[in-house]
Order: sequence, then C-alpha cells, then structure tokens
Amino acid sequence: MVPERIVVGLGERSYPIWIGLGILDQLGVALAAASFPRKVAVVSNPTVYALYGQRIEEILTAHKFSSTAILIGDGEEFKNFSSLQQIYDALIEKGFDRSSGLLALGGGVIGDITGFAAATYLRGIPFVQVPTTLLSQVDSSVGGKTAINHPLGKNLIGAFYQPVHVHIDVETLGSLPEREFSAGLAEVVKYGVIRDDTFFEWLCAHRDRLLNQDPSALIHAVKRSCQIKADVVEVDEKESTLRAILNFGHTFGHAVETLTGYGTYRHGEAVSIGMVFASEIAMSLGLCTRQDVQAIKNLLVGFRLPVSFPAFSIEQYLQAMGRDKKVKQGVLRMVLNKGIGDCLVRDVPDPEALFAPLLNNLSEG
Ligand code: NAD
Ligand code: GLY
Repeated sequence: MVPERIVVGLGERSYPIWIGLGILDQLGVALAAASFPRKVAVVSNPTVYALYGQRIEEILTAHKFSSTAILIGDGEEFKNFSSLQQIYDALIEKGFDRSSGLLALGGGVIGDITGFAAATYLRGIPFVQVPTTLLSQVDSSVGGKTAINHPLGKNLIGAFYQPVHVHIDVETLGSLPEREFSAGLAEVVKYGVIRDDTFFEWLCAHRDRLLNQDPSALIHAVKRSCQIKADVVEVDEKESTLRAILNFGHTFGHAVETLTGYGTYRHGEAVSIGMVFASEIAMSLGLCTRQDVQAIKNLLVGFRLPVSFPAFSIEQYLQAMGRDKKVKQGVLRMVLNKGIGDCLVRDVPDPEALFAPLLNNLSEG
C-alpha cells in the first residue's frame, strides 16, 4: 500500500512519518529518500529482533545498506547507563564513524535509548525510528524526546534530538500483547481529550474496530495521533509552553507508577487513571461536566484500561506528585481538559484542598 504521510515541520530538522499496513518493505526506499547513511546499526531487544530483525536486515541489504545488530535487554530496567554503554562499545568496536546511522527497532524503551545514543555518539549521528508498540507509534517515536533513566528517576538524562524518518507499520502490532496494545490506546484517547473532540467521538464510535486491530481504523487513529503531536511539537519543540499539554494525565499517573512500584501498571494504564483524575479535577473547577468525565471513563474502560485510583492516602499521593518533573518552583502544575477537545495548563497552589474530595473518599472506601 501507499503509506500515509505526515511531516513534522521543524525547518532543517523536519522529517516525514510514514504510516501503513505491511510497509516495512518500503523502509529501504524511505531511508534512501532521507539520504540515510549506508552503514546502519539496528538497535533492538531479543523479543522484537526475533520477530522483525531478520526482515529488517534483509530489507536493508536489498537496498545496499550494511547493517549490524546491537541488542540490549528487554524492559524499562534496561533503559540505563549500562545499556547505553553497551551501544557505544559496539559502535566503537565496529568502527562506526560520523557517516553511519542508528535504526531503533522496538517500543519506547528502544526508541528513547537509541535516540539518546544517536544524539551523543560522535556529537550526533542520524537515526530513524521504526516503532513497534502502539505507544511508540502514537507518541514516543515522534517529537525527539530521547532519554535514559537514572537510578533516582525516569528519563532524567536525555536530549531533544529528532529522528530523520519515522516508519510506522501497524502490522507489527499484531504480535503485541493485548495489554500493551491497550496501554497505547490510552495515549490515543489523550489526544482526543486535549485537542480534538471529533477524534474523541470517532474513537467512541470505532472502539471495537480498534480493539480488533482493523487496519484502516488503526491507520486513522495512529495518523491523527501523530498529526496532533506533530502540530504541538512544531509550535513548541522543547516544552517551554504548549508541549506541556501532552502531559495530560501524567502528573497523577506518575504518582500512581511511583506508589505502586514500577511494573505494576504499564505507563499507559497509569496515564489512563491519571486522565480520569485530571478530568475529575477539571470538573470540580467548572472546566467540564460530569457527562464529559463519564464519557472519558467509558472510553477508557471500553479500551480495557484501569480507571480507579489505587488506595493510597492523600499525603502519599501529594508526596509522590511533589517529585514530578512538572512541579515548577514548588507549585504543582496540571493539564486540565476544557470539556472534551481542549485543555489548559494551570498552577494548583493548594492541591490538598482540591484533591481531598477525590482522594479522601478513596481512603474511606
Ligand atoms: P516497551 O518499549 O518496553 O515495549 C513494551 C514491550 O513490548 C516490550 O517487552 C517489548 O519488547 C515488546 N514489544 C515491542 N514491540 C513488540 C511487537 N511488535 N510485538 C511483540 N512485542 C513487542 O514499552 P513502550 O510502552 O513501547 O514504551 C515505554 C517507554 O517509552 C518508556 O520508557 C517511556 O518513558 C517512553 N516514552 C517516551 C516518550 C517520548 O516522547 N520519548 C513518550 C512516551 C513514553
Ligand atoms: N510524551 C510527551 C512529549 O513527547 O512531550
């Protein structure tokens, strides 16, 4: 099929996103069009490489790219200094110079660490994203946030560094565990709530087609999500202003991840809970109605996502939120939806008073 195309317009750092079903085979053409270096290191993990690695290598070879695989461990716990060093070591040992490039084959963990390796190796070499989870296709592969985790916090070491091409084959989602697929849908819902009521309504109407991975529904959902993200990143690449809206649901979601221990909830699941919390707060401030909150909850439940707040005290939640990167000079900031399809960023000077009705009820329950 002819891929759907979007351009992330960032001047000389602009790049295309190709989206389609079964378009992995067109990767060679895309890389040639992007004048990608002929010497390529494919960074992946054993799970994804076993599924798609050989095909990628064959495609690269057929288009006269030389390729070397660098595999790191599978999981968030491998998004660290040690895996980064493993990537640098392999690149140096195999003589990768400034006329070479990296290809990230996998989910957000692989995309983030490969992007950071590309940003820093020899002061920067080009990289391309081939995202294979729904979360990475609709969010992490687009926009140039790259990072590794520090033992004291997630994504604390990183850089803004854009890929030269993003290649999204929704067929790869067929092998994704159901729970990972649903976690990605949380970020899709996010785009509808913060930016596009028509898209939100479309998601409600096409819920079952998406859950069944109907190709044209998937392509539409991924394309609209990427377009919304691209529009935001074009205005505010480095999150000085507008880009913060992409953190809708993340303030409370990160607190849920911290309190329950990383690994209990997938990131998208925690964001689902966080979006319900944010919409409840928005309702209490008169920014949206009870019906809006219910519609958001219904869609998330329909996508098999959790929506209940785990039972922790308000003090525990406040402490966990205090460590969030979105706290500016001691004041908590939240992204709040205005109805459905619009949002704003607001300082919350007295979170305890605002959150008490939601979180105290929870302790009593
Ligand atoms: P992940 O990369 O850990 O992938 C989830 C699991 O799915 C892994 O076990 C992986 O091996 C497996 N997998 C990947 N593709 C598969 C496929 N097609 N078939 C079968 N299994 C497959 O998790 P994720 O949710 O994709 O990404 C989470 C990461 O993304 C976090 O580190 C988060 O910080 C980061 N993130 C970054 C941004 C950004 O803007 N850079 C945005 C959101 C999240
Ligand atoms: N995932 C949020 C961002 O890219 O800004």
